[in-house]
Amino acid sequence: MTALLSTRGLSLSFGGVVAAEAIDFDLAQGERLAVVGQNGAGKTTFINICTGYLKPSGGHVFFDGHEVTGHSPRSITRRGVGRSFQLPQVFTEHTVRECLMLAASSVKQRHGFWLPLAEAVDAEEVDATLELLQLAPRANDLAGALPEGQRKLLDVAMALVLRPKLMIMDEPTSGVSSDEKHQLMAVLMRALDERKVTSIFVEHDIDIVRRYATRLCAWIAGRIAADGAPEEVLRDPVVIKNVIGE
Ligand SMILES: Nc1ncnc2c1ncn2[C@@H]1O[C@H](COP(=O)(O)OP(=O)(O)OP(=O)(O)O)[C@@H](O)[C@H]1O
Ligand SMILES: [Mg+2]
Repeated sequence: MTALLSTRGLSLSFGGVVAAEAIDFDLAQGERLAVVGQNGAGKTTFINICTGYLKPSGGHVFFDGHEVTGHSPRSITRRGVGRSFQLPQVFTEHTVRECLMLAASSVKQRHGFWLPLAEAVDAEEVDATLELLQLAPRANDLAGALPEGQRKLLDVAMALVLRPKLMIMDEPTSGVSSDEKHQLMAVLMRALDERKVTSIFVEHDIDIVRRYATRLCAWIAGRIAADGAPEEVLRDPVVIKNVIGE
């Protein structure tokens, strides 16, 4: 089976810091991959390269049968990769519904020109996505007024409204209380399942990883140090010593 997302020899350093070191990676359709690793291990760097926010100094990224190395974020979004951010990137001065409309219109051009919002946006799709992420009751509230958990959901909703094939989420539960984390993940995972979206999520909470991931990659110093079934990776002595910290 061909991979949905692949990288070969992906490399990037910042000064003397090696953030990605010759990473070879394959993700199949339908996987739900968790990524763990200590602060600075290179998790966000990997996501940024795969989604076009950073250009690698070496190596290749392939998505859905096409090479996308160094392509712009917008072009990679158009191919079907959605992402959310460690710090949610929402339009705080706009309402929740407006945020989804702006996101939905952000990739719609005709002959190189942007379309009027009403033409670019499918209102039913916006409403369905709000329902899916349980944000409908907040549709007319300012995004800036949302509690962190709902702001995280909105960040994902702004990507899901574009109907991605792959959703990459950078710490979807960070900044949310441990009580709320499971509820948040349950909503996210149900939404992704319902739309049959393959997913990658960065997570520090091992309980969440155990519960929701079908596969786990542990990052150490710009490399994937362990990759496999979550229970297997979590038993790996290198992962216990360098990632979980016991
Ligand atoms: N734009 C940048 N300029 C300089 N150094 C950077 C840049 N982005 C990342 N780095 C460095 O690259 C390394 C990897 O950073 P990255 O943000 O990918 O880590 P991370 O695994 O996502 O960590 P965290 O868990 O804290 O989010 C770190 O040492 C970081 O300081
Ligand atoms: Mg990070």
